[in-house]
Amino acid sequence: MIVLGIETSCDETGVAVYDSERGLLGDALYSQVGLHAKYGGVVPELASRDHVRKLLPIITQAIDISKIKKNDITGVAYTAGPGLVGALLVGATAGRCMAWTWGVPAVAVHHMEGHLLAPMLEADPPEFPFLALLVSGGHTLLVEVGRVGDYRVLGDSIDDAVGEAFDKTASLLGLPYPGGPALAALALQGDPARFTFPRPMTNRPGLDFSFSGLKTFAMNVWRDSGQSDQDRADIARAFEDAVVDTMVIKCRRALAATGLKTLVIAGGVGANVRLRQRLRELMEVSDGRVCYPRPEFCTDNGAMIAYAGYRRLQAGQHESLSIKATPRWSLEELSALDTQL
Ligand code: KG4
Ligand code: ZN
Repeated sequence: MIVLGIETSCDETGVAVYDSERGLLGDALYSQVGLHAKYGGVVPELASRDHVRKLLPIITQAIDISKIKKNDITGVAYTAGPGLVGALLVGATAGRCMAWTWGVPAVAVHHMEGHLLAPMLEADPPEFPFLALLVSGGHTLLVEVGRVGDYRVLGDSIDDAVGEAFDKTASLLGLPYPGGPALAALALQGDPARFTFPRPMTNRPGLDFSFSGLKTFAMNVWRDSGQSDQDRADIARAFEDAVVDTMVIKCRRALAATGLKTLVIAGGVGANVRLRQRLRELMEVSDGRVCYPRPEFCTDNGAMIAYAGYRRLQAGQHESLSIKATPRWSLEELSALDTQL
């Protein structure tokens, strides 16, 4: 089975080809970061229009670098949600229509299932069951994963998602969009002993997250500081340490509560080096295993959608001729596949 995967849920146009025999054949990505940077965040209407402009060339590029022909494709997977509705509709319409033209099935993929399964594209993939920490610009989720589609959300964000908190804090420190990678880079020059930020919601039981207070805390410390370059770096370091520490505490709790021994980290914030390192240490001391995708498959991409779509198509799932776009969609609504693999 050769699956074309299409991702257009936010500000990345991603397309990839996954072959059930040979694995990932190729992926192409166009990032709209330059387009949105001057507004300090994603402008939905501009995102939709840019997907319209870029999607077909990116599909051609992905097919070319995969060294296949259009009629080798046996299924199409597109991100149907969650995400920006206009952006989703571009990929969903193109994917559904191409599948119809080529006479192959199309499957609507949940963006977070794509993130969750992305480590399966790596050489030493995780085995089910596992705990997944899904951390992106829109989500902060701790999920107990039994098998593909069997998801129990153990913890969720009650306000800002962790990537959003990174972006907003970076913005108030005057860093360019997208703030997460810029803040993480600056934190490398920060003094970890200078400021101590709170670890939100860790002094009471539970697995939910709240990061909006940290952003306000950072704002107040920045306002009361001399606003020098060193102050900026020290605040970035204190913020990153607080966020990472909070996630480590919640992961430790969730592993203890479920008895799971494998931890998967995925989503854009999963590219954060300090988070990966701290969670690797956590799993080493608890005799467990941590798995994450290569950094470029942590952030949005077509490969994870091609892979998740392949798993669902292989299990016999596909959509009717309607175009599916679901901006709000819980992972728990997905159906579990029979396979344990
Ligand atoms: O998964 P993703 O590409 O898009 C969504 O589905 O939201 O995640 C994007 C988020 C942004 O908030 C970005 O700032 C954050 O991931 N991010 C990072 C890093 N790389 C990306 N946050 C912290 N450290 C990083 N290295
Ligand atoms: Zn994402």
